[in-house]
Amino acid sequence: MKSLVVVSALVFSLSVLVSPVGAEEKFDFVGVKKCKVCHKKPASGEQFGIWQKGPHAKAFETLAGEKAMAEAAKLGIKNPQEAPECLKCHVTAFPVMGDLANQKITMEEGVSCESCHGAGSAYYKKKTMVALTAGEIEPGPVGLTVIDEATCKRCHTPEGNSFYKEFDFATAVKKIAHPIPEGGSGASGDEDDGDE
Ligand code: HEC
Ligand code: HEC
Ligand code: HEC
Ligand code: HEC
Repeated sequence: MKSLVVVSALVFSLSVLVSPVGAEEKFDFVGVKKCKVCHKKPASGEQFGIWQKGPHAKAFETLAGEKAMAEAAKLGIKNPQEAPECLKCHVTAFPVMGDLANQKITMEEGVSCESCHGAGSAYYKKKTMVALTAGEIEPGPVGLTVIDEATCKRCHTPEGNSFYKEFDFATAVKKIAHPIPEGGSGASGDEDDGDE
């Protein structure tokens, strides 16, 4: 038992050492298209559509805008869409950007579901998602994040964020809310594994 604790402590500290902005090394990103398969219908709360219209979906695009270019020039950065100093908070894919050819996630999707909910490889299948919602399995072991203020403050911090706005967790969560409707069927995808 004791050695198990030591080993998991070691694995934890290692992953903290090697992973930028707290990324989960154990789980792979599946990309927003995968989540969309089951989370796009109005009856299930249309999480995909709400996210797409919200601030996070355009976070990569923002880095090509005038404000971003002006700020980058001040900092001696040529292209913010290629600069780790900016990408670490503007794209979910940041931890795997050196290996994009082998990933299902893209830079263009900006700050997507898995930035907040955790890399989805072990929780995205329908059986797992239903069991999670029913409280039959714990979120941690399958990589689903229990979201709190710290989840957001990884990026909503003044450090390195020249455009920092005061961040109030309760207010901010309301602005991006995408709940499963009361009595709704939840994610109503018929697909078992999220394949389109
Ligand atoms: C991976 C980094 C990241 C995480 C994690 C993150 N955000 Fe954001 N957020 C951003 C970026 C980048 C923008 C600006 C996007 C743009 O304008 O292109 C933003 C913008 C916003 C905005 C609109 C601007 C504002 O400040 O009013 C809200 C609201 C917001 N986020 C809420 C949240 C909440 C709530 C959480 C946690 C549940 C969260 N964010 C987690 C990166 C992140
Ligand atoms: C620590 C995380 C973080 C880093 C690093 C970061 N940003 Fe952001 N950025 C954010 C967040 C969060 C917002 C939304 C504003 C807010 O709520 O703080 C944002 C907003 C923006 C905006 C929109 C501002 C507006 O008023 O419309 C631009 C442009 C931007 N960032 C450019 C950059 C550039 C260029 C870099 C790299 C030099 C960068 N950011 C680095 C987190 C970050
Ligand atoms: C900026 C952070 C953030 C992003 C991006 C994000 N979510 Fe969420 N999500 C939250 C928060 C906060 C909640 C509410 C608290 C909770 O359930 O953990 C939530 C709740 C949910 C719920 C449960 C709703 C309920 O009523 O129980 C689903 C389903 C969901 N998100 C799916 C998605 C999908 C799919 C995407 C991408 C298309 C996405 N989320 C993107 C932060 C985020
Ligand atoms: C194969 C279909 C499918 C795919 C793909 C899928 N989900 Fe789900 N998801 C569901 C179902 C079904 C539920 C349960 C909803 C209900 O019963 O009300 C659910 C519930 C959730 C919840 C709430 C969990 C809880 O504990 O309450 C979150 C958060 C969530 N999904 C996020 C995501 C994210 C992020 C992705 C992509 C990485 C994703 N889902 C991909 C079908 C799916």
